[in-house]
Amino acid sequence: MAARILDGKKIAAELRTEIGREVEELAGHNIVPALTMVRVGEDPASIVYMNAKARLCDKVGVRSRIVSLPVDSSESRVKGLLEEVNEDPAVHGAIVQLPLPQHLDPLRILSLLDPAKDVDGFHPLNAGRLAMGTPLFVPATPMGIHVLLERSGVGVEGAHVVVMGRSNIVGKPLANFLSIKRSGLNATVTLCHSASSNLERVVRSGDIVVAAIGRAEFVTGSMVSPGAVVVDVGMNRVADESAERGYRLVGDVKYDEVKEIASAITPVPGGVGPMTVAMLLRNTVQACRALGGL
Ligand code: GUN
Repeated sequence: MAARILDGKKIAAELRTEIGREVEELAGHNIVPALTMVRVGEDPASIVYMNAKARLCDKVGVRSRIVSLPVDSSESRVKGLLEEVNEDPAVHGAIVQLPLPQHLDPLRILSLLDPAKDVDGFHPLNAGRLAMGTPLFVPATPMGIHVLLERSGVGVEGAHVVVMGRSNIVGKPLANFLSIKRSGLNATVTLCHSASSNLERVVRSGDIVVAAIGRAEFVTGSMVSPGAVVVDVGMNRVADESAERGYRLVGDVKYDEVKEIASAITPVPGGVGPMTVAMLLRNTVQACRALGGL
């Protein structure tokens, strides 16, 4: 039987309405949540993602600003900008879009953000808090995955969740988040990656499989157990001369094959992607409330 589609687009639209209501309520206190997004260089995918984030900010009434610095900007130039952002009381959330150019160390750059404005949750203090089970900001993609599952009626409590990928943006924070000792979480988590032995066997043992490895259509039908729930975080460009842009976007999961085996699956696009953007805005509203003492 074909899998149920977990509709991230629809659930993200509901979240937008909810966030919009919160923004209206803050307007009653004369507060407009504001997000500053910093990019160094002109990475094409980063430009697309940041524009999508800015559009959603507009839709829900969050003020947003994209600051784009030249690709050869020094660490001290970025530092100067982030210090301004940290000190600006009208800015509640700030993110530095990744990847950064080679000459900039992400750990050093992300450490410059005020943790109270770090709505991506990438500052080492926030990453550490999450690892300790007491998060301030949970990164947007992991939180988006959890909310998507929860609102689709897929509980993670006690389930075996196999997370494929160990990035600081998705895999590691997701594993840390889902295994927190808290109602609605409490998952049994296995984190596997490109160097894992018997990867297929590990993935097949998952009640829920999250593919975040950045390899187009890597997860095939034979890798997932019948009835598993499959979440696809991938967003890979594959050359396609028949497509207008010369490429098409595919996930980390071989969708047509896996949807015949799984009980539920997220599409690409329209699955995790829209949830991620909504969660960033939710974190921004949360930061705004906390900084405003609300
Ligand atoms: N690059 C890919 N995903 C993200 C994200 O969620 N936040 C930032 N800042 N950069 C990214």
